[in-house]
Amino acid sequence: MAKWIDNAIFYEIYPQSFKDSNNDGIGDFNGIIEKLGYIKELGCNAIWMNPCFESPFNDAGYDVSDYYKTAPRYGSNEDLKHLFDEVHKMGMHILLDLVPGHTSVKHKWFLESMKAGENEFTDRYVWTDDIWESPEGMGCIRGISERNGSCAVNFFSTQPALNYGFYKPERPWQQPVDADGPKATVAALEDIMRFWLDAGCDGFRVDMAGSLVKNDEDFKGTIKLWQGIRAFLDREFPDAALISEWGEPDKSLEGGFHMDFLLHFGPSHYNDLFRCSEPYFSSRGKGDISEFVKTYKENYNKTSQKGLICIPSGNHDMERMARYLKGDELKLAFAFLLSMPGAPFIYYGDEIGMNYVENLVSVEGGYGRTGSRSPMQWDNTRNAGFSGAPADKLYIPLDNSPGRPDVESQVKDVDSLYNEVKRLISLRKAHPALQNMGKIEFIYAESHAFPFVYLRSSEEEKILVIINPSGKTASFKCGFPLDGKLYSSGGSITKEDGVVEVPAVSSGFYRV
Ligand code: NOJ
Repeated sequence: MAKWIDNAIFYEIYPQSFKDSNNDGIGDFNGIIEKLGYIKELGCNAIWMNPCFESPFNDAGYDVSDYYKTAPRYGSNEDLKHLFDEVHKMGMHILLDLVPGHTSVKHKWFLESMKAGENEFTDRYVWTDDIWESPEGMGCIRGISERNGSCAVNFFSTQPALNYGFYKPERPWQQPVDADGPKATVAALEDIMRFWLDAGCDGFRVDMAGSLVKNDEDFKGTIKLWQGIRAFLDREFPDAALISEWGEPDKSLEGGFHMDFLLHFGPSHYNDLFRCSEPYFSSRGKGDISEFVKTYKENYNKTSQKGLICIPSGNHDMERMARYLKGDELKLAFAFLLSMPGAPFIYYGDEIGMNYVENLVSVEGGYGRTGSRSPMQWDNTRNAGFSGAPADKLYIPLDNSPGRPDVESQVKDVDSLYNEVKRLISLRKAHPALQNMGKIEFIYAESHAFPFVYLRSSEEEKILVIINPSGKTASFKCGFPLDGKLYSSGGSITKEDGVVEVPAVSSGFYRV
């Protein structure tokens, strides 16, 4: 069982935009290697890297054309193995991004499956058996194959859906999950995982993990499929970790995932915290955390001991947190993110408060997401230290706003967001109660009210976390003594006659 995830703190790298080592305007593996020291210094000990495989890049690499070959723009397979080695030398781990649900239309499996005659790949994708019948409720590709049928798509119309079968087949072309075609797809997926785990990666973030089996209303077929894959991993690669892009931990962890994300879609109320018109972490103090806490508790109780619920600072699909929160608000958002159970995930650049870059023309299928994928800002030299290429050759334009944050100046400033994040990570690492497996009990999380208070505990200790993001002093009745202060930010929290007063935009951590 992947023990290393018990205290993993992840850093998500979008390889296009992290560091360009050969001045072609796009990031690469060697650039990431150059910056591993930075990630380690921040305190993260694990990496999730977005897809880096051969692809026509209609969806930033989530449209793979060869699962066994890296995209040359990032480097060779050997360069990627070198990255794994360097990560391991630093005592860190790295997850690749696995896209099991669909390929690119350029994948050789798909090219074969479009042929009229039967071959090994005829059943690799979800095809209807007549060009005039489209798969119900899904987009489809039609009219480009010799084959008389339409092929279901999972996301963009360049991403045909791989065939894992139908939980309840209703049409003749819908195959049951235990038919030969779906079984061969699972075997092909396991081969890909085996190949990269043998090469030295430590596991996978799994794209759209809940979408594999079709007509699977309660996800029973998809859960069973992942249980099988988890059994394969436990047999062959017991230290490998799997995290799902699913957003429903009660289902994904049942399926054998070690971790699942709460996301900007799905029932988690994640957006109430950082991304809505009145986020809870805004100092306007109009947000509400109660629905988030209610669903979190339900998930937490249903999944206890099964795996981790992970709350990311952001990712390549959502607007950056800094579009909604500024200055100290971001510090308090991180006080929360870095003191919750589950593995924290920091999206590159969020630790310095990188902006969402407005009004960018879509790059490689990014559309509105492009603004969250701009180059990392390392310093205030040319191209913010990201690349030596001419500015008009950068893969995505840089944030050109005045006063944009950068790593070099924030490292020097003790009051910067970077240094706050770094202190919060080291606090987490020093206290088992604050780590991934520590328990949580919510003490004060009332509807439309502040502060937000919870108790983290391990066998060794209990830590009370108090956070008041609002711009007004807030109070709550507290049965705990507050003399064991471990950390605070903002003004001083006081207690009198059992009532704790928490100054505007402040936080405190107490051993109780
Ligand atoms: C989720 C990924 O995070 C996103 O970037 C991608 O476009 C879709 N899945 C399709 O693979």
